[in-house]
Amino acid sequence: MLKKLTGKVRLILVFSFSYLLDFGECLAFRSKPQPTPYHDFDYFIFSQRWPLTTCAEWEATKSGNTCNLPQDKHLWTIHGIWPTKTGQEGPLFCPSSIHFNPDELAPIINDLTTYWVNVEANTKLNSFWAHEWKKHGTCASVLPLLDSVTNYFRMGLKWNRDYDIASILSKEGIEPGNSYDVATIYNAIKNSINKEPSIQCVIDKETKESYISEIRICLDKNFQVIDCNPTNPIHRIRFGLNTNCSQKKQVQYIASITPTSDTNYRTIEKEYIDYQGEYEGHMRYLSLYNFLWTLMWLTL
Ligand SMILES: *[C@@H]1O[C@H](CO)[C@@H](O)[C@H](O)[C@H]1NC(C)=O
Repeated sequence: MLKKLTGKVRLILVFSFSYLLDFGECLAFRSKPQPTPYHDFDYFIFSQRWPLTTCAEWEATKSGNTCNLPQDKHLWTIHGIWPTKTGQEGPLFCPSSIHFNPDELAPIINDLTTYWVNVEANTKLNSFWAHEWKKHGTCASVLPLLDSVTNYFRMGLKWNRDYDIASILSKEGIEPGNSYDVATIYNAIKNSINKEPSIQCVIDKETKESYISEIRICLDKNFQVIDCNPTNPIHRIRFGLNTNCSQKKQVQYIASITPTSDTNYRTIEKEYIDYQGEYEGHMRYLSLYNFLWTLMWLTL
């Protein structure tokens, strides 16, 4: 009887604490991107990802997650074209009369499934594209060349061919399956496009290893490559090069995901695609939550 009651109380406490924390998180921690009521932007960030790193992150997020990977094991795939205002993230989720209609992707569906692959296999086929359209495409659509779902995705495919990261790196002898100083990778890209790129990594919290995950280049509204502005919070730069990768240790450019290495990725930073500050907020929330939870189990 007493045990039952304790169980109930415990449950109620856990729930009320998690509500409290959710509430606190809303107030203090989470800075979820808000829809912007305007389309004003200065340039584009074109973000390409190393799909194996994305896959490792995805598999680490939840057991049972599976990945789509392109046949061509050297392909860097598209993440998105992100209209950006100098010094800030976004605009995002702009008001637009153009709704995402997957039928419009029919003519380019084969290219999209290869070059703009939705790595997260156990999600709806169109979910990744729908997300990129709603979050970024709606804002880009004020430019004539990007004024439809098809045009937005076609432009991404074109830029993926124009700025072929795998061959840029390969020309400098940078190949998957090795680790490099991020400066080596950075300079290979910079020397090829003659502008400053931005490079993102994710970290394995346990081993502290860095994995290269994204390479971004920036283009103006005439689609000319420009320097990526390191002050934009979206790049999360700490110091030195326009990268959030470790500049003290080499970064991994992985060639495969082996089942044995799977556990290594369990603790990899969950990717909160480009939600500024959300990751930090979430980790704080999690550790606080775990702490309180443990406390309750110990005391009750
Ligand atoms: C680097 O930035 C990306 C995206 O902006 C983020 O997902 C990743 O967690 C960051 N990595 C580090 C090591 O801070």
